[in-house]
Amino acid sequence: MAETAKLTVEGKTYELPIVTGSEGEKAIDISKLLKETGYITLDQGYANTGSCISAITYMNGSNGTLRYRGIPIEQLAQHATFVETAYLLINGDLPSSCELTNFSDLLNTHSLVHEDMRAFFEKYPRGAHPMGILSSMVNALMAFYPEVPERTEEEEINITVARLISKLRTLAAMSYQISRGHRVIYPSHQLGYCANFLNMMFDSPVRPYDIDPDVVRALEVTLILHADHEQNCSTSAVRHVGSARVNLYAAISAGICALWGPLHGGANQAVIEMLQQIYDSGGDPAPFIGRARDKNDTFRLMGFGHRVYRTYDPRVPILKEMCDKLLTKFGASDPLLDIALNLEEIATHDPYFIDHNLYPNVDFYSGILLRAIGIPLNMFPVMFAIGRLPGWISQWRESIYDPGWKLCRPRQIYTGHKERNYIPVADRG
Ligand code: SDX
Repeated sequence: MAETAKLTVEGKTYELPIVTGSEGEKAIDISKLLKETGYITLDQGYANTGSCISAITYMNGSNGTLRYRGIPIEQLAQHATFVETAYLLINGDLPSSCELTNFSDLLNTHSLVHEDMRAFFEKYPRGAHPMGILSSMVNALMAFYPEVPERTEEEEINITVARLISKLRTLAAMSYQISRGHRVIYPSHQLGYCANFLNMMFDSPVRPYDIDPDVVRALEVTLILHADHEQNCSTSAVRHVGSARVNLYAAISAGICALWGPLHGGANQAVIEMLQQIYDSGGDPAPFIGRARDKNDTFRLMGFGHRVYRTYDPRVPILKEMCDKLLTKFGASDPLLDIALNLEEIATHDPYFIDHNLYPNVDFYSGILLRAIGIPLNMFPVMFAIGRLPGWISQWRESIYDPGWKLCRPRQIYTGHKERNYIPVADRG
């Protein structure tokens, strides 16, 4: 007998189907609620609402579990490459050796960007934020790489996926070099995905970039940890925009814009700005914690809290370990890391943070690691976007092939004026 939930409205009882996930999560299926009861549900911010059924990423907010296609991120961070992880998310399984070689070759083939796009970059105001540039350039890719009628839909999707994964990295490095008035460094077929990006970012005719395997691995792990996170704000934006059957470039461009926000992927930049503020004000985080606790203050402790995790974000310990490794290797220390560790220690023992289940999230330490790698601050959200791209693509692809998927069009409860008449301007006083 199928499990159901009973709902009684206006004296009538309705049975609503219960959906159970492969890890035992439960949902009440309300897809027929309006038709059967005349009622809709209301859930601002969707904290209690599932938007889809998905087989891609499983996260458990109570015990801090995160798995891509069933594989724990701890194992992927230890053993996988970012390209392998991208393939896993998009295709459902880790690639065979032959599949991995073919996928890597495809990414290499599509790593260049149309030369005419450079005019876009060169005319962009130098001080523009790289996330704004990136979302514009990704949207422009449709114009430079239009669909070819001879290709099947699947062939078109596969080449678009390869173009996006490979070119997003190239576009990001181009925006950085051009913003500094420097020569664009081309991708090299001799370098792997992450080494290629670092070389495009930091190589120079007068100072060749020394590709350090530990720095490459630190970037690789950072991108793996950011690769997907079920129905977060930017992934929901990609699914929502994609549900109108717009091209994938436009849907990804929307995802980049959603990720830019300081409450989401822009938090990695906001964390460093906050830690720098604490450092500049003498290093004592207490005033900032006091503001975070103050109900009348809109200040939030950046890098703390999460809609799903009610314990440590499982990505945090891995990032912390990578920070220690890289800084130790360089014999360097980062005063902002010291402040972050102190802030974490104080906050996680503070009753307000404990009562509100506020723990450090992925953005709290990712910025420290990106600083150690040498990524400029305003590029931190861009690194999040490069990492999250395979997740966005896999979620979009799952949605367009889902027989139950339809145009996303939520309803509302109207609380405005009742009907009233137009008043000519002469009579409005
Ligand atoms: C990411 O969804 C994902 O999976 C996202 C992500 C991914 O991989 O895609 O994990 C990446 O975006 C991580 C989050 C990065 N954002 C930040 O670090 C910004 C700071 N954090 C907060 O703004 C907040 O925690 C959110 C936005 C992340 C989550 O907030 P919710 O779930 O909307 O909860 P809320 O804002 O309603 O807060 C609930 C309570 C409130 O207090 P009360 O009014 O109930 O007394 O917790 C408090 C809030 O004031 N609170 C905080 C706080 N976060 C929540 N108080 C102080 N500092 C904070 N950071």
